[in-house]
Amino acid sequence: MNADARELAASFDLEKLTPEFYANPYPTYRALRENTPVKRLPNGAWFLTRYDDLVTAYKNTRAYSSDKKKEFLPKYGASLLYEHHTTSLVFNDPPIHTRVRRLIMGALSPRAIAEMEPYLVRLVDRLLDGIAAKGSFDLIGDFAAAIPIEVIGNLLDVPHDEREPLRDWSLAILGALEPVISEAAFARGNNAVKDFLAYLEVLVERRRAKPGNPERDVLTRLIQGEADGEKLTAKELLHNCIFLLNAGHETTTNLIGNGLVTLTGNPSEKQRLIAHPEMIKTAVEEMLRYESSNQLGNRMTVEQVELGGLTLPAGTPITLCIGAANRDPAQFPDPERFDVGRTPNRHLAFATGAHQCAGMALARLEGAIAISRFLARFPDYSLGTAPVRGGRVRFRGFLSVPCVTNS
Ligand code: HEM
Repeated sequence: MNADARELAASFDLEKLTPEFYANPYPTYRALRENTPVKRLPNGAWFLTRYDDLVTAYKNTRAYSSDKKKEFLPKYGASLLYEHHTTSLVFNDPPIHTRVRRLIMGALSPRAIAEMEPYLVRLVDRLLDGIAAKGSFDLIGDFAAAIPIEVIGNLLDVPHDEREPLRDWSLAILGALEPVISEAAFARGNNAVKDFLAYLEVLVERRRAKPGNPERDVLTRLIQGEADGEKLTAKELLHNCIFLLNAGHETTTNLIGNGLVTLTGNPSEKQRLIAHPEMIKTAVEEMLRYESSNQLGNRMTVEQVELGGLTLPAGTPITLCIGAANRDPAQFPDPERFDVGRTPNRHLAFATGAHQCAGMALARLEGAIAISRFLARFPDYSLGTAPVRGGRVRFRGFLSVPCVTNS
């Protein structure tokens, strides 16, 4: 390891990131993985970059807790943001987690997802028609972000003309999960929870009065609960709907946006995928690995653990760096190479273990349909002026990517 890489690893501070890091975090992740894979950050938290260490933490829910009540109180105070994040299933341990997850998973069954396919194809083709008519377009606003918002809107059966604010609420609430947030970002996140709750209260009342089909409508399913009487409290219901809308939105936008941008930087892989559209499944997995939309996860130890030859006591905050683990050469041969045919590809973009993404089959379907149909329609697309990155370390993606179809 050279001195620069050692210095990069030694000076790494998740709370003081540079523009170079946001543009390309992978040299830093590599330096950390090779030099200090279990790294103590200045704020006392530990940062993991090795694939095997992430798997260990994800799989052991007894020692590595997802409950964020202690961690978020100093950050958010007794605010709506605090109430929201600490009520979401992703930031809870069993038994709360198990109850809510079971209800959500039931509505995201393979059959329910397969039934969405014809709708998705029509939606994507309609967006592509709009792009064809314009010639120059924004890959995010005109395409990548427009897909998940409709899909998740359908899942909860939010009327079409009421979907517009969902994206901004979602960006504001997830933005508040960044390691350091300004007062303005906190206020934006908090207001978004307030407005979102007010909206959902009305939606839930309407749905109680006129229930949908619980096989397909997640909201009806969450309201009705399970046949044996397992039900969510009013607060759990609202916050988990918000979480679901958020979880499936920015992440999937980033999969589609990052995937199509990565192809432009890897022209031979782009041509390979165009020549072999049947490779779309492995290509989507590689996009998820190579530019993971969700780069960081968090856990708190609740008992003493051993990691990388170190002993960490109970009460240690841990950050799991998915972006680094997904380029670990111990798991992925030639990890810096983008290979649309890579198999096996056991990436951690959806995490693993008890909290593994509940919407991954849906995200994969959205990614495959969006990217394959886009490529078939505009094989010569190219980037226009400089893309604008989201500027986040946790959720990696673009706010806008000006493009031209060249067709
Ligand atoms: C490319 C798209 C997506 C990515 C990269 C992604 C990634 C993730 C990751 C890494 C987690 C685990 C978080 C943790 O425990 O630390 C997670 C959890 C979750 N995701 Fe996704 N996600 C995506 C799309 C979706 C979609 C479309 C939905 C729903 C429609 C969804 C719903 C959920 C839910 C409900 C959880 C919580 C699961 C639990 O705690 O048991 N996600 N996701």
